[in-house]
Amino acid sequence: MKKRVLTGITTTGTPHLGNYAGAIRPAIAASKDASVESFYFLADYHALIKCDQPERIQQSRMEIAATWLAGGLDPERATFYRQSDIPEIPELTWLLTCVAAKGLLNRAHAYKAAVDQNTATGEDPDAGVTMGLFSYPVLMAADILMFNANLVPVGRDQVQHVEMARDIGQRFNHLFGQGKEFFVLPEAAVEEDVATLPGLDGRKMSKSYDNTIPLFSSSKELKAAISRIVTDSKLPGEAKDPANSHLFTLYQAFASREQVTQMRQELLEGLAWGEAKQRLFELLDGQLAEPRERYHQLMSQPQQLEEILQAGAVKARKIATPFLAELREAVGLRNFNQVAVSAKAEKKKVKKTSRIVSFRDDSGFRFRVLAAEGKDLLLSVAFADGRAAGMANKALQSGEAEFRVAGNQVQAWLNGELIGEGQATSSTEQLLADIQQALAQE
Ligand code: TRP
Repeated sequence: MKKRVLTGITTTGTPHLGNYAGAIRPAIAASKDASVESFYFLADYHALIKCDQPERIQQSRMEIAATWLAGGLDPERATFYRQSDIPEIPELTWLLTCVAAKGLLNRAHAYKAAVDQNTATGEDPDAGVTMGLFSYPVLMAADILMFNANLVPVGRDQVQHVEMARDIGQRFNHLFGQGKEFFVLPEAAVEEDVATLPGLDGRKMSKSYDNTIPLFSSSKELKAAISRIVTDSKLPGEAKDPANSHLFTLYQAFASREQVTQMRQELLEGLAWGEAKQRLFELLDGQLAEPRERYHQLMSQPQQLEEILQAGAVKARKIATPFLAELREAVGLRNFNQVAVSAKAEKKKVKKTSRIVSFRDDSGFRFRVLAAEGKDLLLSVAFADGRAAGMANKALQSGEAEFRVAGNQVQAWLNGELIGEGQATSSTEQLLADIQQALAQE
């Protein structure tokens, strides 16, 4: 199976050049690797924790979506979606909230920092702390565990949250897995060599320092920002020290190796700062012109953005919906028609057995037949109501249903109607035998 890489972008603010070089550009490049399956999403539920201005939330979601697409993210290849379009995520958040230790969350940096600050100023320790802030890591754990991500690229400040996701996932596996690992335990990937870009004043480029260079604003604004980059007061002709120039660091983040070598040499030989700024401007403006155009095109066609993200949500929910159904089943939120079956399964708890899992998705009521080792053997058609699904399920178990092989597919029929199909396979015989064995164990 391909490695799953997943990361979320909190939708507050407008992406600037630092976000682009530090996170967006490397993530888009990584999504082109054929050995990974990437999941990138707008963490807009997380944004609500920090921001109570609806217009800003909306604007930022659009800008960030447009930035990723303009930067070259291929939504056909990656799964690109809004967190808030996946109702399974808050649902999973609750299941995880019920196993997450409060003591664990007490230790989360963001919450602790707020408490420490309150304590220092003599306030009530929890003044201004919402449950959103406190539970932030559980929502993030749900984001990650929902898609069984192996790798989670994040900044250093987020590593603790990924570790918490591991803890919470492990606890859930232990409590409800009966030997099965529902959740893959994720690992944080901190890109060591992605330099954090310096801002105009040389400190890390960040909105909170008000030292950012805009990403997709006009050439004129880009030029104006670059002219405000702070340099030392060396005159034209005087040798400049590239190692101590953040202008040069910015140049390096976008230039080819040859360009870097040449710029370094010329600075040492006394290139004027004004000229160096002009070169940086030309470099950036050249690289950003095309994506800038795409960005503005997307921003002026919100319905196109909306479509892309909704298609992304459909793709994501193909995974989330059946998985959540399994998890609900595991914790005991089961269809009442299944009481007898579940009680039987309970008795055989020590041994892993095959299972029939009922669930509901957008098209109706369904069930799956799973082999003992969890392999998906057969998926039912969608039934209009739970009773019909229950009857079909029973008919399969009692042997009343009939199996047919059609091409590379195994089908189950009941009274002249198709009630379920296995996945296409080159060995229909084997699949048929597996299904029958699974049903015999039930
Ligand atoms: N908390 C992350 C941040 O602020 C964003 C985020 C939300 C995230 N859910 C996630 C990152 C899941 C990785 C995986 O940067």
